[in-house]
Amino acid sequence: MSLMPNIDNPTAKTLADLGVTDALAIPPLFAEIRARFDAEILRSRDETNWNITKVMWLGRKSGVLTQITENWLKPATPELKRAVGQQLNELRAHVETQIEARRAAIESGAEASALAHDRVDLSLPGVNRPVGSRHLIRQVFQEIEDIFFSIGFSVVEGPEIETPYYNFEALNIPEFHPVRDDMDTFYLELPPSPDKKTAPTPLLLRTHTSPMQIRTMEKQKPPVRVIVPGKVYRRDNPDATHSFAFHQIEGLAVDSDITFCDFTGTIEYFVKQFFGPSVKTRFRPSYFPFTEPSVEFDVSCPFCGGTGASNGTTCSKCKGAAWIELFGAGMVDPAVYGFVNYDAKKVSGFAFGIGIDRLAMLKYGIDDIQVFFQNDVRFLRQFP
Ligand code: FA5
Repeated sequence: MSLMPNIDNPTAKTLADLGVTDALAIPPLFAEIRARFDAEILRSRDETNWNITKVMWLGRKSGVLTQITENWLKPATPELKRAVGQQLNELRAHVETQIEARRAAIESGAEASALAHDRVDLSLPGVNRPVGSRHLIRQVFQEIEDIFFSIGFSVVEGPEIETPYYNFEALNIPEFHPVRDDMDTFYLELPPSPDKKTAPTPLLLRTHTSPMQIRTMEKQKPPVRVIVPGKVYRRDNPDATHSFAFHQIEGLAVDSDITFCDFTGTIEYFVKQFFGPSVKTRFRPSYFPFTEPSVEFDVSCPFCGGTGASNGTTCSKCKGAAWIELFGAGMVDPAVYGFVNYDAKKVSGFAFGIGIDRLAMLKYGIDDIQVFFQNDVRFLRQFP
């Protein structure tokens, strides 16, 4: 064993190899060697390590002090020899004293008790580092994904920054359609286009996950069965049921023979899996430019069991209506197929868009949507 690999072991080289020609350079060289020894001897806490250290430094054949004698002292120029000899004597005295003192300490048991003191007690309880858990919204996403997986849907995700074409036009919402007012959103400020003559393509934060209907159908021929979880944005003022950033899951199924019955059957299956088998469902006519017919989907209020009353008073969740509106859906409007080169005469399908935050509020009895975004651990801990 040697003190260190040759590459940074100066005692394996001569002073000439080290470029030392001045006697003033000798003391710092020895100071470095002495510092290495001091560090090493401190680590020799039992007899085995003490022996190794002793041989490493005082060993006759290749101990460090022998190496210094052979490589530095003997070949040194007459000008350097005196300085090297003097420093070597001091180093030897220091090494021998320390090695002897260490032996005495080890024999007296002082080192053993120091060693015991420093020993790691593996039976002590570890440091408890708090581990976070998935946010309730994430958990609900997962629950819904599992349900749709089980009936053959797959998950796709898409960009939160969209073009007006995907967010509106390709969904049959032309520029001056009044429905755009409901979905007023945030537009990005863009740098001018390189030629400075044409305006850059506007970009916006998507208002719903429906643009992924178009992107999916552009990429994929029928049959299509996907769900799209994601974040969406609207210029809505925050209150107990509105947030300017919230979450949706889009669903889309398109094939050669999908009927309204497939649509209602799928939705009912999902709702009963999610809320439990006793929940009742109903459709009401509605309007979306990209579905025809369009529906709003309601469930019987899970809080009052669909009676409109709880504990003898009007149910505070459904306000006595016995039903709660869940989400919008419908059969894909044939006009939409025109935007993705599907033959509207040969395919049919359905789509839905579920507001996840409100769904989670319903299921877990949360009455303010804002708690999802406040990161208050007292709330988050209730949903480990
Ligand atoms: C849509 O966004 C349609 N894209 C849904 C759709 C998809 C219909 C496919 C047909 C076919 P709507 O604007 O109603 O629809 O929003 C859907 C859900 O998002 C609402 O039911 C509600 O749960 C939720 N939502 C809407 N605005 C907010 C908001 N500001 N904060 C929280 N949730 C919201």
